[in-house]
Amino acid sequence: MKRYSRITGTGSYLPPRRLSNADLVIELAGKGVETSDDWIVERTGIRARHFAAPDVCSSDLALHAATSALQAAGVEAQAIDLIIVATSTPDMVFPSTACILQHKLGVGGSAAFDVQAVCSGFVYALAIADAMIQTGAANKALVIGSEVFSRILDFTDRTTCVLFGDGAGAVVLEASDRPGILATDLHADGKHVGILCVPGNVSGGKVIGSPLLTMDGQAVFKLAVGVLEQSARAVLAKAEKSTSEVDWLIPHQANIRIMQSTAKRLKMGMDHVIVTVDQHGNTSAASIPLALDAGVRGGKILPGQLLMLEGVGGGFTWGSVLLNL
Ligand code: ACO
Repeated sequence: MKRYSRITGTGSYLPPRRLSNADLVIELAGKGVETSDDWIVERTGIRARHFAAPDVCSSDLALHAATSALQAAGVEAQAIDLIIVATSTPDMVFPSTACILQHKLGVGGSAAFDVQAVCSGFVYALAIADAMIQTGAANKALVIGSEVFSRILDFTDRTTCVLFGDGAGAVVLEASDRPGILATDLHADGKHVGILCVPGNVSGGKVIGSPLLTMDGQAVFKLAVGVLEQSARAVLAKAEKSTSEVDWLIPHQANIRIMQSTAKRLKMGMDHVIVTVDQHGNTSAASIPLALDAGVRGGKILPGQLLMLEGVGGGFTWGSVLLNL
């Protein structure tokens, strides 16, 4: 009998400090940076974001999200045999945030590692966990996206600092004889490294280069819309499904205009798209599982529905996962 993987529980967590656009405008004005609620809403759809306290790390946000997903799945942490954390803002250079999270969950022994694919990280991590479950290398996986992007923002650069937020989302993925994940599709093109990156590195006890995010927003926008359409069509073809059968598109939450353009190219109405960018901002690898959990807990996403998760981000990386919940 063929082995599949299924999502059996979702969870998410947002740090308590919420900044509306108006709050951020005041904070940035104190640094001599001029922006407005109108500009941010019109160009991005973002109205608010959450920032973690200075002593809170990605593993702390991940712990809350993972605990909530485990509860939803009715699975004990010690039954998990694979932990994958997608993050670009890890607690340390090493070891992985997944190992730190494993210890915070009070367990040990399972495989645990991080995936670095920036905003596509959760889709990459889910595809890896699915493959490992299908081959029998794992039975019950925790797959998490967790980020503290506020740590790598240049708060003197209004073209980037208004876009991002902190948070975490998680799923429990279990082996099943019923199809859950139907198809996955992953890609990267390293020639676009420079349009979205944090170019610094640690060497000889110093940070060499800038440790802050830099982005060519218009280049990212154009690339994102094209590859999201291609990947959606590729994953649907692999599963022999059509866009009309998709109940919910759950795209990376970077910008409402990217989501609207993608939906339009796929001839899907926005009433089939889960949108949380307005309340979360862009939380990079956390954005898709945060949106998924909001849709599930908000009663929009129902068991048995066909979901398409789509990520795009630095690298450039992109990909999709098509699944039955
Ligand atoms: N407040 C006020 N004005 C601003 C701000 C701001 N926060 N930021 C830029 N502006 C100004 C610019 O200076 C420019 O002014 P000028 O015309 O006098 O020069 C004007 O607004 C227009 O700037 P553009 O860059 O042309 O604005 P655009 O409509 O392209 O929107 C944006 C910028 C929102 C960044 C858009 O390009 C975008 O969303 N790109 C995709 C970004 C994205 O999604 N990134 C995440 C990808 S996923 C990942 O891996 C992280």
